[in-house]
Amino acid sequence: MRRLVEGMPKVELHMHLEGSLEPELLFALARRNDIDIGFASEDSLRAAYDFANLQSFLDIYYAGLRVLLHERDFHDMAWSYLRRVREDNVLHAEVFLAPQAHLRRGISVRTMFDGVRGAMERARGELGMTTGLILVFQRQFSEEEAFESLRASEPFADRVVGFGLGGAEVGNRPGKFARVFAECRAQGFRIVAHAGEEGGADYVRETVEVLGVDRIDHGVRCEEDPALVRELAESRIPLTVCPLSNLKLKVVRRLEDHAMARLLRAGLAVTMNSDDPSYFGGYMNDNYLATQAALGLTREEIREIARNGVAAAFVDARRRAELSRMLEDYWAKAG
Ligand code: ADE
Ligand code: ZN
Repeated sequence: MRRLVEGMPKVELHMHLEGSLEPELLFALARRNDIDIGFASEDSLRAAYDFANLQSFLDIYYAGLRVLLHERDFHDMAWSYLRRVREDNVLHAEVFLAPQAHLRRGISVRTMFDGVRGAMERARGELGMTTGLILVFQRQFSEEEAFESLRASEPFADRVVGFGLGGAEVGNRPGKFARVFAECRAQGFRIVAHAGEEGGADYVRETVEVLGVDRIDHGVRCEEDPALVRELAESRIPLTVCPLSNLKLKVVRRLEDHAMARLLRAGLAVTMNSDDPSYFGGYMNDNYLATQAALGLTREEIREIARNGVAAAFVDARRRAELSRMLEDYWAKAG
């Protein structure tokens, strides 16, 4: 099973570039930019990755972003991730960036976008990977600020496939961002939002009904509302599930309790993703392997999860057909 999973062509649809900063790179950028990050070593930073919940993670994660100042810092962050996941046979990755987290620190949209864009183009040329950029609004801030982030990004709109919603979920309901997502949709962007990670099934329902999302990020707590589970099975709105993230942020106590297999078996379009791989102890293959072992996913279920990823990607018909063919060829050879 390990060899089969590792070699399988994959699509990743839910990962935060800022969450891919490994302690080694974080320290290297801190040195390069002469910033004191308040930890003595890579190991002491890594030892602090022991989270009680989403907020305790976000505090440390946002603090680490101070090392990102220049275009090449954003490039190095994105390039490290893309090069790393190519080793996991990820052939297409849709990556999240939260402009507000950087605009608030005085970094221009051009600086972040040029850096990330450079890495994405390099991935195409050097790694044969395709990529998409999704800009994530931070829900703990106002909708007005989300609009400002949208306006600041508009000159670079041709580089963006969609908009998303992240940050502290509980107390910041999806409906708070109804107008800004309506505007994104009117401009032709795809829409995703974190929901049902720490928030309950009602947050998932509101995300679908009020925001009109194309995909739900996490969504695992939809399980608390059986009618919603049936509706999601029928609509096939994809869920970008991140099992190791849910374990690390204590959304589930044990991976064996995770909803992924139950939701898949209930007919939902479940996909596998890493969320913030540097902080949550694993990239794509780690997520597949740990989840397979904990939930007893069959070969056919692994294949179905990977197929769901291809079907849910924001790519044109030609690229989707290409990804699909590579996946099917792989399984045909695997027998
Ligand atoms: N930003 C980065 N990772 C996140 C997560 N797991 N939930 C919400 N916002 C995030
Ligand atoms: Zn996320």
